[in-house]
Amino acid sequence: MTLVLNTLETNDYTTEQIKALLADKDADIEIVDTADFKIKHCMGCNNCWLKTPGICSIKDDYEFIIKKMVKASNLWLVTDTEFGFVNYRGKRIMDRLMPMLNMTIEIRDGWERHQVRYHAMNVGVIYKGNGNQELLEEWSERTAVNIGGHSLGVFRIDKDEAHESSVSGNATTISSATSPEKMEHIVIINGSPRVQKFSNTDKIIKSFTQGLESEGISHELYSLSNRSEWDKAREAFMNNTQIIIALPLYVECVPGTLLEFLTTISTERKQPAQISFILHGGFEEGHQLRLGEKFLQSLPAQLGCTYGGSLIKGGTFALRMRDNEYIKKMTQKMLDSYATMGKLFAQSNNFMFPEAKKFTGHEKNPWIFALLFKLFFKRLVKKNFERFAKAWGCTRPLDDKVYSE
Ligand SMILES: Cc1cc2nc3c(=O)[nH]c(=O)nc-3n(C[C@H](O)[C@H](O)[C@H](O)COP(=O)(O)O)c2cc1C
Repeated sequence: MTLVLNTLETNDYTTEQIKALLADKDADIEIVDTADFKIKHCMGCNNCWLKTPGICSIKDDYEFIIKKMVKASNLWLVTDTEFGFVNYRGKRIMDRLMPMLNMTIEIRDGWERHQVRYHAMNVGVIYKGNGNQELLEEWSERTAVNIGGHSLGVFRIDKDEAHESSVSGNATTISSATSPEKMEHIVIINGSPRVQKFSNTDKIIKSFTQGLESEGISHELYSLSNRSEWDKAREAFMNNTQIIIALPLYVECVPGTLLEFLTTISTERKQPAQISFILHGGFEEGHQLRLGEKFLQSLPAQLGCTYGGSLIKGGTFALRMRDNEYIKKMTQKMLDSYATMGKLFAQSNNFMFPEAKKFTGHEKNPWIFALLFKLFFKRLVKKNFERFAKAWGCTRPLDDKVYSE
């Protein structure tokens, strides 16, 4: 079955038009119009992996969608675009995909991936507005690989001439750092939807700011997981010249929560600002974060700002488990290295220094790692996850198929 999730707000693209567009692809098509659905952002609680396998703890209209997905082999996302990418309504739906996977990590086609809970699903995108076609194609491909499938393609369904001159179009506009006068103060925004107390990004920021402080730089921090901080975050964003957005990778790009926050920012600034990014993700390999980096490179110019570079690193998932002594020890080196990066950022005014480039580490796991992982580590990692799940009160197998296919 082919499932089409229509996330367009205005619903001005009709069921008949979508059916006509996909007519030669599959006869068995189900279109779900989500315009009136109540769907929240994924909050990264990990309960769908470690506490109630396959079941999302947010009780809203998404359960209806998951039950449809379990029966689908193809998934089309119909979405508006913003900043050249899927808008927050479309991304929010895809960020909630986690129950379709399970915690167990495996290597598929040489990439670290999570095991699919039910079956492989192909993914395609149908979009409106001035999306960056190349970026969307890569995102569709990567997202499909995530759930074991391939991309069905990316199609634009309108040609809005009024949008053609916008910077969010097919050309990636990067307005690079000019390294202004020595900074004294930085606004830091934590773009993770996970509550601050459990957020890995928060732990990274705490270490990074130790480095800033050692160089006499002060900072103010806002966490987007707390909506009551959004007004203040917006005001600080508009009135400061040095901004860092720190964020986790969410389904191959930035979290829907951050995309929503960005739509509330005015592009008319009184003074220019530089935005730099700290982007990190669960998987170790650097290349898994490169699409996110590409999107971030093009973002500051669309907000009337310059780009101060991105500090990129994978392998941060375990930071959440630092109450375990072994993991605490294992991850301390990583946090210390963020403090060093904070110091160097303060000296350089941006992330364009060579150490920031090296900071990512390996782009792809060497073949020997893949072999050892298959032979030994896979079972060890699985056992560890099972141990954590037990501690979280989980009573079912982590790969439980809760909804029938
Ligand atoms: C909904 C969701 C999607 C994610 N997608 C990816 C991904 O595509 N690639 C990746 O390497 N990590 C992914 N991660 C892992 C997070 O980037 C990682 O665990 C990060 O440390 C979380 O930081 P935080 O605690 O501040 O949210 C995802 C996590 C969640 C909850």
